[in-house]
Amino acid sequence: MKKVFVETYGCQMNVGDTEIVLSILRNAGYEHTKNVEGADIILINTCSVREGAEQRVWGRLGEMRRHKRRGALIGVIGCMAERLREELIEKGGADIVAGPDSYRDLPRLVQAAGGVNVELSKEETYADISPVRTDGNGVSAFIAIMRGCNNFCSYCVVPFTRGRERSRDPQTILHEAKELFEKGYREVTLLGQNVNSFIFPSSGFRTALPYGYPNPHLRSVNSGPETSGALPESSLSEKFIPMMDSALTPERTMDFPDLLKAVAGISPLLRVRFATSHPKDLSDKLIETMAAVPNICPSIHLPAQSGSTRMLERMNRRYTREWYLERLAAIRRAMPDCAVTTDLIAGFCGEADDDHRQTLSLMREAGYDFAYMFKYSVRPDTKAACEMDDDVPEGVKSARLMEIIALQNELSHESNHRDVGKRFEVLVEGRSKRRADQISGRTPQNKTVVFDGEARPGEYVTVEITGCTQATLIGRMIK
Ligand code: SAH
Ligand code: SF4
Ligand code: F3S
Repeated sequence: MKKVFVETYGCQMNVGDTEIVLSILRNAGYEHTKNVEGADIILINTCSVREGAEQRVWGRLGEMRRHKRRGALIGVIGCMAERLREELIEKGGADIVAGPDSYRDLPRLVQAAGGVNVELSKEETYADISPVRTDGNGVSAFIAIMRGCNNFCSYCVVPFTRGRERSRDPQTILHEAKELFEKGYREVTLLGQNVNSFIFPSSGFRTALPYGYPNPHLRSVNSGPETSGALPESSLSEKFIPMMDSALTPERTMDFPDLLKAVAGISPLLRVRFATSHPKDLSDKLIETMAAVPNICPSIHLPAQSGSTRMLERMNRRYTREWYLERLAAIRRAMPDCAVTTDLIAGFCGEADDDHRQTLSLMREAGYDFAYMFKYSVRPDTKAACEMDDDVPEGVKSARLMEIIALQNELSHESNHRDVGKRFEVLVEGRSKRRADQISGRTPQNKTVVFDGEARPGEYVTVEITGCTQATLIGRMIK
């Protein structure tokens, strides 16, 4: 049996895709190996979101040449494959290039010992493929519920590399979650670039937006008669239902809160999480559902990107600072204990000192529990790359990012301090990585807690928080 090794970069979607790829290849007779030296096929699942992510992969491709010399096939899959195509063969020495929607073709490409398939699809969700779980803890798993993105934030490459947004058949999502629960998993995270726009009509229609997007650069990525035309300015979900089928009423469609509720209904012992929420689509129905269902965890990842309305407009985020803060207030009214985390970009095109200060003040107002923070990186073909000047000097970008990180460190520490003295139901994940005599688990808010005692992975225990560091809570097991 030939052996396949996969190295994964980028977001959780990519981690999930690696598991799908392994499943497709296993069904074609290829066995997974964690040892690159003995692999016949080496795949690199790549990310294009920032230039640094791509640089790292170019470096890895260079290192892979020695495996190529011993006869291994080298494949590049994922977002860089979609973006760079033949260039990865010509300059990177790859044999196979496969984009995110063409993984079913991998067995053929491997058999042919080379080739390119970067066709994007409007339907593919790999709904029927049961992922090979590779390096999880056996307690917590990710489930992709949709693919692609229609939002076209002006800085972002994802809509180009992942194609149009489409929701996966909820029956297959529920089936996968049930199977995981039966195998002993106790937590699932439902994944998509914008889970709030999940929608699945009961008539089996799979694509949220069958035609049209606003950006002419995209025609080359996903062309065809259905893909030209303009995207309506207003909310997609409002517009598309009547266009699809006049019989499609809300009663006949499943939206994201409905899906969450259905997954949570599998068992009260199954924790349900999700990522990512676009603030423009965060509905009251979602907040009410989260507040009403105890095993939907009180934790929302709500990327702000910037605290300045002027920047948000340039970013094409389609909300204002005020809208964002109002959504946050709605979350806090319904769930005072809800954790809120975010993504922030420093130094986007045209960002002035005042815009940056507004990001800092938004962070303070929101009191984020955690944040991912990035320096703006120009991505070819995006609206920002084509129409805006990357005019914030590198030194200023770095200084702003450092300020943002320093503030978030303070906020994270404060957030952990607020938990000292409180009790939480903790889902045990296993032994602590730092101290093998301690147990590590997570609160409903998704914070890591370490504590002394005996408990098995997948068990729920009550823990009182006695102290903290910036990154971790320290506790005492009550029962
Ligand atoms: N769909 C998710 C984000 C996916 S990309 C969402 O909209 O929330 C993850 C994060 O990478 C983004 O939230 C953004 O903060 C960051 N990012 C995306 N493009 C970037 C770029 N060109 N430069 C720097 N950061 C970027
Ligand atoms: Fe990128 Fe915006 Fe889509 Fe997120 S919502 S993946 S930031 S375009
Ligand atoms: Fe994910 Fe990176 Fe692609 S963030 S969607 S792997 S560009």
